[in-house]
Amino acid sequence: MQAHRSVEPVLVTGAAGKTGRGLIRALLRAGLAVRAFVRNARQQQVLEELGAEQTVEGDLRDREAVLEAAIGVRSIYHICPNVHPDEIDIGRGVVAAAREATVEHFVLHSVLHPQTEAMPHHWAKLRVEELLLESGLPFTILQPAPYMQNMLGQWQRIRQEKVYSVPYALTTRVAMVDLEDVAEAAVRVLSEPRHAGSTYELCGPDLLHPLEIATILGRHLGIAVEAEILPVETWSREAKCAPGSYRFETLVKMFHYYERYGMVGSPGVLGWLLDRPPTRFSEFVEKHV
Ligand SMILES: NC(=O)c1ccc[n+]([C@@H]2O[C@H](COP(=O)([O-])OP(=O)(O)OC[C@H]3O[C@@H](n4cnc5c(N)ncnc54)[C@H](OP(=O)(O)O)[C@@H]3O)[C@@H](O)[C@H]2O)c1
Repeated sequence: MQAHRSVEPVLVTGAAGKTGRGLIRALLRAGLAVRAFVRNARQQQVLEELGAEQTVEGDLRDREAVLEAAIGVRSIYHICPNVHPDEIDIGRGVVAAAREATVEHFVLHSVLHPQTEAMPHHWAKLRVEELLLESGLPFTILQPAPYMQNMLGQWQRIRQEKVYSVPYALTTRVAMVDLEDVAEAAVRVLSEPRHAGSTYELCGPDLLHPLEIATILGRHLGIAVEAEILPVETWSREAKCAPGSYRFETLVKMFHYYERYGMVGSPGVLGWLLDRPPTRFSEFVEKHV
């Protein structure tokens, strides 16, 4: 792959989160310059330690701060903070700033199946996709499945208690993707002009339910791992997600949606973008063992 070695950076929003850090590592490895938009000085330091040349501190709801950050960048990779109640307004502000700063390319980090109204954070992303389609900006929309990395938060418990727990039925099949594959695909999208005007679904090759996931985990860890349902009250306490909050209500709707319909997706586009098969769940586990 030929990296675009422009000195004009890519502005990455939501840069200090799980997605932002994964993406920025991949961008820096590929030789692209990065301007990271972060919330505070602590995050600024994290990004500087990762190697980001430029960091901008601000609130994504502050239109002036976003516009200032957008001036002088070649492209914007917009990552909205996860399950944010102001996702549409934030998206509107970042798209407006991109237009005013006349950036060459806007990449939106969306989600698999944004067209599901029953999941408010997916539905909000569809509205932001719509704003982007109508903006006149050269755009690419990436729609990743839930990351395999989400499970790393309970890695310790899986090893020690030999239990993999989820707050939905154990036969629920949800597509997954390795965040490292997503970041590699994003680098290609930002480096090759042919991706302008495209929307890509990014999924790994497996469609597993928690019982199968537990079996694979057990096989690679050399222990018997059980899958169990985590009651919503326990999940809420452990995730520090207070009942009644937007985050709680939205994620509970997502669990119900998963349970009722599952979440399927094709690995075809990601394989084409990467020019290799996307990472299998068993390969991901092997990497992290
Ligand atoms: N996780 C998945 O499996 C998955 C899959 C597909 C798509 N996505 C999408 O990926 C996106 C990013 O997810 P993530 O988990 O990487 O996000 P995240 O961890 O919430 O990270 C976002 C970053 O933005 C910061 N932030 C929060 N509010 C802000 C504000 N008002 N102004 C400036 N910065 C702010 C956060 O800081 P604090 O830490 O201080 O809040 C954090 O550093 C989400 O839109 C999500 O829907 C996620």
